[in-house]
Amino acid sequence: MCDLNKFFIFSSALIVFYGSCWEIRLSPDPNVFSVGQRPAGTPLAIMCIITGVANGQSPGLIWTKSGNGISTTGNVEVKRLDPFTLLIRNSSLEDSGIYVCTASYNEETKTVSVDVNFFEELHFISENGDIENPKESSNFNLSCEVHLTSRNPNELITMWEKGIVALTRHSERSYMFFANNQILQINNYNSSLDDGTYQCKVFDKKTGSIIFKEIKVGNLAKKGKQQFCSNLCSTLCTKLYSKDNNGNGNGTPIISPKRLG
Ligand SMILES: *[C@@H]1O[C@H](CO)[C@@H](O)[C@H](O)[C@H]1NC(C)=O
Ligand SMILES: *[C@@H]1O[C@H](CO)[C@@H](O)[C@H](O)[C@H]1NC(C)=O
Ligand SMILES: *[C@@H]1O[C@H](CO)[C@@H](O)[C@H](O)[C@H]1NC(C)=O
Repeated sequence: MCDLNKFFIFSSALIVFYGSCWEIRLSPDPNVFSVGQRPAGTPLAIMCIITGVANGQSPGLIWTKSGNGISTTGNVEVKRLDPFTLLIRNSSLEDSGIYVCTASYNEETKTVSVDVNFFEELHFISENGDIENPKESSNFNLSCEVHLTSRNPNELITMWEKGIVALTRHSERSYMFFANNQILQINNYNSSLDDGTYQCKVFDKKTGSIIFKEIKVGNLAKKGKQQFCSNLCSTLCTKLYSKDNNGNGNGTPIISPKRLG
């Protein structure tokens, strides 16, 4: 089209054809980059760029949001300066929607749009859930519940493993699952069968993100902590205190704690 127009550039058709030569595009280009899928809270800036207009001329530009106003939340700003930019500093789920940049030039109107979806990032309600000394034969829950303020729980899939073995309601230990699989109930606890490291993975079907957490059950949980502490202590102690060459062990630190870091 534009090449054709150049052909006419010295003809009387100049004005008419020059008009269709200009272009509007977004940067980053939503057709090339996944611009629209964003965790809520992250900032987003999209430039609306016009090319091919005559020097010194500026097209009329506006950003709109389909459905309702450009910023019902107060988070969306439009920077009128060149480049014409839509800026969302502190995004929220309500800022999701289709944003449209419209340019008018030479009595012609062109639009480009980007579909933006701010999603809630997954995180666990509690990070720790180790069960250190369950009573033999008792029932208890391991929890991998996630915060969900605005999401449909069916968009999440939760999987459990113990070591490398997947746990299902058909497993020999007859586990029970609650809260859309986010809670695993261990029944009739038997330390020799049930102690170990459990892992849950929560997969978000909508965004593809995944979070996981490990829960230790039984002696392992206790041992894990003691082991860690005693290793830490002996390393620290040997590093911090050492007898001098004359055998006068007075416990003077030979290196400053700073250097341990
Ligand atoms: C961003 O928005 C959230 C909730 O809408 C608010 O809690 C937070 O303080 C805001 N952060 C900034 C930097 O404005
Ligand atoms: C485990 O959690 C489920 C769902 O909250 C609850 O119904 C069940 O009683 C819990 N089991 C135990 C042993 O606490
Ligand atoms: C726990 O499991 C072991 C191994 O299967 C079994 O020998 C033992 O009797 C069980 N303990 C109880 C209290 O059921």
